[in-house]
Amino acid sequence: MKVDGKNMRPIWLDKDSGIVKVIDQRLLPHEFVIADLKSVDDIIHAIKEMFVRGAPLIGVAGAYGVYLAVVNFDENGDFYDYLIDECDKLKAARPTAVNLAWGVDRVMNKLSEIKKHQARIDRARDEAANIADEEAENCRKIGENGLQLIDEIWMRKRGKTVNILTHCNAGWLACVEYGTATAPIYAAHDNDIDIHVWVDETRPLNQGARLTAWELGEYGIKHTVITDNAGGHLMQHGMVDMVIVGTDRTTCTGDVANKIGTYLKALAARDNNIPFYVALPSSTFDWELNDGIKEIPIEERDPDEVRYVQGLDHGSMKSVLVPPASSPAANFAFDVTPARLVTGFITERGICRATRQDIMRLFPEKMAH
Ligand code: MRU
Repeated sequence: MKVDGKNMRPIWLDKDSGIVKVIDQRLLPHEFVIADLKSVDDIIHAIKEMFVRGAPLIGVAGAYGVYLAVVNFDENGDFYDYLIDECDKLKAARPTAVNLAWGVDRVMNKLSEIKKHQARIDRARDEAANIADEEAENCRKIGENGLQLIDEIWMRKRGKTVNILTHCNAGWLACVEYGTATAPIYAAHDNDIDIHVWVDETRPLNQGARLTAWELGEYGIKHTVITDNAGGHLMQHGMVDMVIVGTDRTTCTGDVANKIGTYLKALAARDNNIPFYVALPSSTFDWELNDGIKEIPIEERDPDEVRYVQGLDHGSMKSVLVPPASSPAANFAFDVTPARLVTGFITERGICRATRQDIMRLFPEKMAH
């Protein structure tokens, strides 16, 4: 996607230096800074502190983490013991998005049986790059598949503006290109469908207000930032035609973990008979889990992210305390929307209902699990 007219991804490998480069998303939209990641510890730090974030992107970051592990291997030790330890550390950086372990395992599994150091480096680098390219292509297809849903609404509304509500940032910054929830939105815009996006601010880290609003603005898409609690009101008054969100982990039975507050949007959408779609690449399905509420690990982050709000003040970034200094806070980063509240999934292979049977129709090779 373009930043100031230049094509960019949120992560890439600088071939000359071997350094992994990422856009530091903590500072957007007010500062645009590229960070250098040179080691597994750098990657872990960037994932934990959310320089990089969003399920598909942390999968790709994890994959490049394995590449850096191989590059930094001290050739005197046992390679496979070392590799397994480094991969375990990477996978533990954030618990909810299943893409992280998926990306790490995919690169790790390509390294068995390779004995030469340079050959290992080459293989790890190529596999991480393949993952990045495949995720970009998956998101492009999600856009193509989701476009038909928006187009149907547009036709039904006889060309009047289609209003879409989204939560958090499931855009290209969270993926590699296009985004998941935003891919059909970008595709609709490219196809001259009149759309407008309600952007939940997404407290506490404001990924909606900071990142989704920035992305949409850069692309020229009409949007309005709203408080996290406004969605229900808008739905009651006919101001939302559909909801599209991303996900960090979706069970093969259709339960969806996504940014905290997603569940409340799904409840409000159901109460108001508004379609609630979840867009995801297959890397975000967890084929092992059946019960999202019981089984998906929900990350709890530093309560200070709730207590302090960050923003631009007279040209410089400031952090300000909101509640009484003595009040404790809790920071649950994700929630689980049960399958029964989900109208459908938009995947790279097409659209399906949120049932095991219909998910398996699109991904029959997973049937064995
Ligand atoms: O805590 P974050 O910012 O990593 O959470 C991201 C989300 O919840 C996204 O909606 C999800 O990863 C889908 S990304 C395409």
